[in-house]
Amino acid sequence: MEGKPVRLRSKARSNGPRGRCQDGYVRRRKKIRCRLPRAARQARPRSRTIPLEGNLGELARRHFERQGEACGRLGSPFMARLLPLAAARLTPETDFGRAVLDWPDERMFEDALSLRFAGALHALVLSGRAPELAERYPPRAAAEAGDDDALWAAVEAAMTGYGDFLGEFLRHPPQTNETARAAALMLGFQDAARRGGRPLHMLEIGASAGLNQNWDRFRYDLGGAGWGPADSAVRLAPEWRGPPPDLGPVEIAASFACDLRPLDVRDPAQMLRLRAYVWPDQQPRLQRLDGAIEIAKARATRVARADAVDWIGASLQRRPKDRTTVIFHSIFWQYLPHESQQALRSAIEVTGDLAEADAPLAWVRMEPWREDPWKAALYVNLWPGGETRVLAHCDYHGRWIEPLEEATGAAA
Ligand SMILES: C[S@@+](CC[C@H](N)C(=O)[O-])C[C@H]1O[C@@H](n2cnc3c(N)ncnc32)[C@H](O)[C@@H]1O
Repeated sequence: MEGKPVRLRSKARSNGPRGRCQDGYVRRRKKIRCRLPRAARQARPRSRTIPLEGNLGELARRHFERQGEACGRLGSPFMARLLPLAAARLTPETDFGRAVLDWPDERMFEDALSLRFAGALHALVLSGRAPELAERYPPRAAAEAGDDDALWAAVEAAMTGYGDFLGEFLRHPPQTNETARAAALMLGFQDAARRGGRPLHMLEIGASAGLNQNWDRFRYDLGGAGWGPADSAVRLAPEWRGPPPDLGPVEIAASFACDLRPLDVRDPAQMLRLRAYVWPDQQPRLQRLDGAIEIAKARATRVARADAVDWIGASLQRRPKDRTTVIFHSIFWQYLPHESQQALRSAIEVTGDLAEADAPLAWVRMEPWREDPWKAALYVNLWPGGETRVLAHCDYHGRWIEPLEEATGAAA
């Protein structure tokens, strides 16, 4: 099937099963029982005065190690080093260490505890408050190899000296907004513009800070095909595994977005949180993020605080004629409860079935590839018609894109 447009049998079918690793978060594959008996777990030392190594319970240890492995596969040798180190050495001697160790087992994967832990430390580095820790972090220190003892000593010193800062960070769920996904999404926007033949009325759900609302202000270099302002602060040049795509002009009539917990690009604390979840050895990602934040600030990008199901229902009711309405999302579907997925799918499909040629409806999404959870795919439906097409496979963080025939125009 590689290299061919993949057609799914039914209309707008699944975006794929829950995978092992989506968006870099590892999830529980199945219920893992803690091997230690309850009494032994309860007896786990909590004293500040007795330094012990290897205090992380069995489940937490696995969580940290598996997340480290996933980060390594997604291009972060530093995280692949830091998280197993924490799994082996974290103790309850500090308030922060204790907060991590006391995290309820049943919430650990769901809450992405290991990413919160690493995010808290990275936020501290980025805040400039802990130069000693920054000394041991990329870009100053080597990501892959290095002196683990010195790194851990700096982490321990930070946990002792900045417990309040770290503890406060730990309380909030992870938030990301990956602009590199725009390179895959834009293949779908190109498709909607070409086939719909009308200006786009864009509706993004699960938009986070709304950075990809400004996808038309980014510069793309896709296998030699260029698109967008050459002087953009965000330049996307993923490894392109195919012939260059056919990129034409796209007219955007309007663009709106929602998120359950939107981030405000004007709030420095929220932006520090977003930056902290970029892995420390991925500096080009961080630079891209900073560029996208500046563009969003200059354009006064806003994201409505709303549940996607309610928001799409209302937005579809007032969608304009003579426009192609484009609903889009990236790495968002998995966060919805099953009933919300069904409600959203049904709202989109019912509207699509009623769509006429003067007001087409497109559904463009970059979500896990159903046959391989280590890959994402770009799925597109365009009504009237509504067949599900897969235009590309791609990396979750946009590092590479493999266009399928249709995205390059070869099958037209
Ligand atoms: C992994 S982030 C992806 C953000 C962005 N789409 C990207 O690709 O960078 C998932 C986003 O979905 C949002 N989200 C989760 N459930 C939602 C819901 N029911 N309605 C709207 N947004 C939701 C989260 O708040 C979060 O910002």
